[in-house]
Amino acid sequence: MTTAPGTNSSSLLGSAPAAPRIDSTGASAPTAPSAANAPSAPTPPHAASSPAIPAAMRRAIELSYRGPTWGGNPQVGCVLLSPDGTTLAEGWHRGAGTAHAEVDALTNLAALTPTPPAAPASPAILTPAGQTPSTAPTPQAARGAIAVVTLEPCNHTGRTGPCTQALIAAGITEVYFAVADPGGRSGGGAATLAAAGVKVHGGILADEVEQSIRPWLTATRTGRPYVTVKWASSLDGRAAAADGSSQWVTGPDARADVHLRRTAADAIVVGTGTLTADNPSLTARGDGGELLPHQPVAVVIGERGIHAGAAVLRHPHPPLEYRTRDLEQVLADLFERGMRSVFVDGGPTLASALLAAGLVDELVIYLAPMLLGGPRTALTDLGITSIADARLLELESVDLLGPDIRLVAHPRSPTGPPHTLEAQTPAPASPKETPDVHRNH
Ligand SMILES: NC(=O)c1ccc[n+]([C@@H]2O[C@H](COP(=O)([O-])OP(=O)(O)OC[C@H]3O[C@@H](n4cnc5c(N)ncnc54)[C@H](OP(=O)(O)O)[C@@H]3O)[C@@H](O)[C@H]2O)c1
Repeated sequence: MTTAPGTNSSSLLGSAPAAPRIDSTGASAPTAPSAANAPSAPTPPHAASSPAIPAAMRRAIELSYRGPTWGGNPQVGCVLLSPDGTTLAEGWHRGAGTAHAEVDALTNLAALTPTPPAAPASPAILTPAGQTPSTAPTPQAARGAIAVVTLEPCNHTGRTGPCTQALIAAGITEVYFAVADPGGRSGGGAATLAAAGVKVHGGILADEVEQSIRPWLTATRTGRPYVTVKWASSLDGRAAAADGSSQWVTGPDARADVHLRRTAADAIVVGTGTLTADNPSLTARGDGGELLPHQPVAVVIGERGIHAGAAVLRHPHPPLEYRTRDLEQVLADLFERGMRSVFVDGGPTLASALLAAGLVDELVIYLAPMLLGGPRTALTDLGITSIADARLLELESVDLLGPDIRLVAHPRSPTGPPHTLEAQTPAPASPKETPDVHRNH
């Protein structure tokens, strides 16, 4: 049985003072297209009155971390609660092409509480004409239950069916989510649920989830991958000695951290300068030099291209070679290939060009307790001539890794022209090889 929006009959939470950032439309994030489309009938918010919903959301965030950080889809977790707040089942998304978190949770609930043969199965799902029906089960125990999910349930059919329809068909009467789905095709789930009589509340622990899936949200909102630029330098800001040698500025702990960050990304990016100077393999490796299970695609940018015999040609994936200096074009093409996060591990020229163009979302800087002096600064020209034009950063963290310092920082405000989906009509750059990269859903 479903409950009409605005009623309170199935809530486990009872009446409560209004909680900030929550409404029946799921309109929590101002940039979300789905928020604009959602119906306006208000539902009294309840999450602030019960620890059950935030606790379930915290658990859903934990579950989401079990999914991969790479690929076209975000990490998402889901907890199904009974009306009295008891956890019925949990689920998470394991990556593009696999069940979404809500469907995974429904599947797990079905396994715990087998559906009687007479119960309606997936054909009952209200699937728009021409779309593949969801294969989610509709376990009896889901009838009248509450779904707590980190991301607004998706509204479209990709490789799997829409989660909204799976939830409606299963008889879920109330949905709490953290962050609206900014995807043009996948967003709008809150409105669909509300139109079907499901009570919907957005914004539960939104800041935590914004933080946890920041790369995917940023990429989906901007239409280019989330760009992390890394460098390792001496305390006096030199990325290499005067002869160009830079292996190894930092110690083993910092280098291990770099490899963990590499494996979490979709691509490792360098300029041809680094390729020529260091001949890197651009793999993600463990302490013993072994390849980590997930190998990002190696990307080389620059008019010189990849030289014959380069170590990167022995990478597990065919490298992508962009014989261009047009960084926006390259990023747009990587996005088209399904990449949502790239780790730039090149030299000062590429890092500076990305920063100057306002294309950097995160800086990871390792400072080694040494002095090198000389001309090889970690950055070159950013087009800044006066202190008033300095690029200001927000420091996220400062940590000691063995003898080295790791700084993580983000640009404090947009540092370049807007990079919106609407604004971009790039002619795709043409790399020489096509990697095996998963696309959305
Ligand atoms: N300490 C560290 O963390 C670290 C990391 C990596 C490298 N390094 C050191 O950095 C040095 C190499 O520095 P680098 O600056 O030459 O390497 P780089 O930044 O990786 O490569 C520079 C090249 O990228 C190409 N490029 C692509 N897009 C560009 C754009 N928009 N603007 C300008 N150039 C663009 C250009 O090559 P084309 O002429 O082919 O177009 C340029 O010469 C080496 O000494 C290496 O050891 C240090």
